[in-house]
Amino acid sequence: MPRLSVPDCEALLRALEERPVPNSHVLRAAARLRQRLEQAMASKATSDPNPKRSRDSHAPDHGTLALCTLHVCTSCRSSRTPREPRESRPGFILYQELREAFDESPLRHRVDVRPAECLSVCPRPCGIALSSPGAWAYLFGDQHPGESACDIVECITRYVETVDGFMPREERPKHLRASILGRVPPSQGGSSCI
Ligand code: FES
Repeated sequence: MPRLSVPDCEALLRALEERPVPNSHVLRAAARLRQRLEQAMASKATSDPNPKRSRDSHAPDHGTLALCTLHVCTSCRSSRTPREPRESRPGFILYQELREAFDESPLRHRVDVRPAECLSVCPRPCGIALSSPGAWAYLFGDQHPGESACDIVECITRYVETVDGFMPREERPKHLRASILGRVPPSQGGSSCI
């Protein structure tokens, strides 16, 4: 038997209420149908209080990302850079530059810049990672203090304006095209791959 939609069930119940019930079998079937319809509608109301936002519960009403996290590897250094002091490593300096850049940016309440000990992209310093709940995540290498902060801010400005974090190559700043090392689809929903 095909599944009936909620409007179909409601129309059927209305029709039964308007006509004399032919026998007890139909009466019992109508009672079961009414009960199941009420259960389905109650469960829908509980699981989806705002149907317009059900596709991406993390996105604000205007369809952009509410919050994203930028991890910056503070350990990254080239083979020419000494290990100590750690505060002089290029990764640490880039982290500080990005903290300052976002503190002064209109995005300061939407971008959380966090230090990471290692993002496993050590041969391509400096490494950064971009993520947001329910959105595409990205991993980049080849970022440099004194050079990359503006491009990273521009890229994240674009990222937070997307619905699901998907950024085609040509929409990323030039320096964040060849330096991409990986991207991960959202755990639920999102665009398909280019
Ligand atoms: S040391 Fe920076 S990614 Fe490993």
